[in-house]
Amino acid sequence: MALIHALPEDLVNKIAAGEVVERPSSVVKELVENALDARASAVSVEIEAGGKQLIRVRDDGQGMAPDDAERALERHATSKLRELADLHAIATHGFRGEALPSIASVSRLVLRTRDNHGPAGTEVEVHHGRRVHVREVGHPRGTTVEVRDLFGSIPARRKFLRAETTEAGHVAEAVTLLALAHPGTGFTLGSGGRTSLQAPAVDGLAARIYQVFGGRLLDDLLAVEGGADWAAVRGFVARPDRPASPRPNLRLFVNGRPVRDRAVAKAVAEAYRGAGAGEFRGDAFIFLELPLHLVDVNVHPAKTEVRFAEPRTVWVAVGAAVRGALAQGAQSRAPRVTPSGRPPADPARIETAVDTFLERAGRVAEGLSAAAEPRGPVVAAGPLTVLGQYRLTYVVATDGEDLLVVDQHTAHERVRFEALQARAEERAAESQMLLTPLVVTLAPRLRGPLEASLPDLRALGYDLEPFGGDAVRVRAVPALLRAGDPAAELQAVLEEVTDREGAEWAVAGRRDRLAATLACHSAVRAGQPLNSEAMAAIVRELGRTVHPTLCPHGRATVVRLPRQDVTRWFGRGGWRRQ
Ligand SMILES: Nc1ncnc2c1ncn2[C@@H]1O[C@H](COP(=O)(O)OP(=O)(O)OP(=O)(O)O)[C@@H](O)[C@H]1O
Ligand SMILES: [Mg+2]
Repeated sequence: MALIHALPEDLVNKIAAGEVVERPSSVVKELVENALDARASAVSVEIEAGGKQLIRVRDDGQGMAPDDAERALERHATSKLRELADLHAIATHGFRGEALPSIASVSRLVLRTRDNHGPAGTEVEVHHGRRVHVREVGHPRGTTVEVRDLFGSIPARRKFLRAETTEAGHVAEAVTLLALAHPGTGFTLGSGGRTSLQAPAVDGLAARIYQVFGGRLLDDLLAVEGGADWAAVRGFVARPDRPASPRPNLRLFVNGRPVRDRAVAKAVAEAYRGAGAGEFRGDAFIFLELPLHLVDVNVHPAKTEVRFAEPRTVWVAVGAAVRGALAQGAQSRAPRVTPSGRPPADPARIETAVDTFLERAGRVAEGLSAAAEPRGPVVAAGPLTVLGQYRLTYVVATDGEDLLVVDQHTAHERVRFEALQARAEERAAESQMLLTPLVVTLAPRLRGPLEASLPDLRALGYDLEPFGGDAVRVRAVPALLRAGDPAAELQAVLEEVTDREGAEWAVAGRRDRLAATLACHSAVRAGQPLNSEAMAAIVRELGRTVHPTLCPHGRATVVRLPRQDVTRWFGRGGWRRQ
């Protein structure tokens, strides 16, 4: 007797449903994706009891002819994929022809649809995999799918569903993701008779974010625009100086498809750390656009993961784009000094305060060099006392006269930069041998910059040699970078000097720019708790630098709040006031 036989179709569908349909939100995702693939201009979703009782998705897309409506519920029936070649370049959400039959195998499903040609619409009803009827029905152009009694015939699966509010939350997130990916389509979501999302078609992502999350979130975001080679990256990331949400929330879209990807999440987190912006703990919306043939979307039955043909380029593109956004954000940020927490009443006054400080620092430096001492305590008028750390980012100190707010990252960056620079000049760079030499493969576009930078990288403490093609062998790294990831750092350093070729730097020359980038990577970060010795050391060493007031990228290291200003804020101008 033959032991091997084909499984009955309904059983195959149920097995597929196990992979595609996990909970109500998976049903919503599949149905909305179908609506989007049918080029709907408006999609409405209604659920009852978190989707356990009812899910209804309605669209005004192209609809289906009667034959197609019947076929749509058969396994592997799809209008989106015809031959193998198509599988390598998928632009639609769907392509497997599995979603509808899978859902219909574990629920009571009614499909109503009409295309532009037919006089009447078609209704197909399937109960737990069994066709109940097909009949003509009145329906506007477009499609409505109703799913009732999800997992009603599979108690073991139904038992795993969570509370209605939890399931409704997952549904809302699924709809939100697709709404973000398609701002030009109108979306509504109703849950238990209440409208929880109403987002008419708008022009662009920012407007969609505003509709979905409100203006507050938008205020806390920085625009991302960049990429590398063939990978374009756009979107928004959280401003690092705004209150962080309890956990990071990266919403990633690859060619318009919401997916999860740990490597991209890591690239975002590293970009934050690399920019001295601390840990990434906010929202991010990253849209990656790649040539279709370089992304494999057929990795996961629910299509929530993709595989990149060249993950390295994607990593570099995301990192560079996010770093660029953070750098822009740092420049556009105005210092806030009012104790009330309101923005400063008069930004010009702060400018003046900074100018006065710069000028004074300059004068002290001049005085010191006149006394033939090249390095001296230029920051402080008197001995410095560290008062504490503010928001894990600034060291607050006083020189007995004025208040000094020191940015721990930029200040440390300045200190390290000058140390690297001095050692390179004296040909006394400190290197740290790696336990085993490392072969790093660089993106092809970094090969030119590497060759041009070799002598300078060596002067700064790298022991490197080209290793054929795009690879380079690293034997030792600058001692300052002891703790890091040498491959990522080298890549980042080369990227930064390349990407910021024409940008404004506070230092000139390739070696100094490389040194500046190394300094940035090795300096303490914003968001890092520091004990009082560490704070005192940063402030003291900053005082010994030649140019203490700016980091090598041109950002301020310290802002002085003159004592008179502090006095004035509290109306203590006259000497008699107590
Ligand atoms: N809302 C809709 N409007 C128009 N046609 C639809 C709609 N929903 C489904 N269809 C048609 O039914 C077919 C089957 O849908 P189904 O979701 O099962 O498969 P798919 O979208 O092709 O692939 P996948 O299983 O990856 O989602 C689709 O290819 C499409 O032709
Ligand atoms: Mg589909």
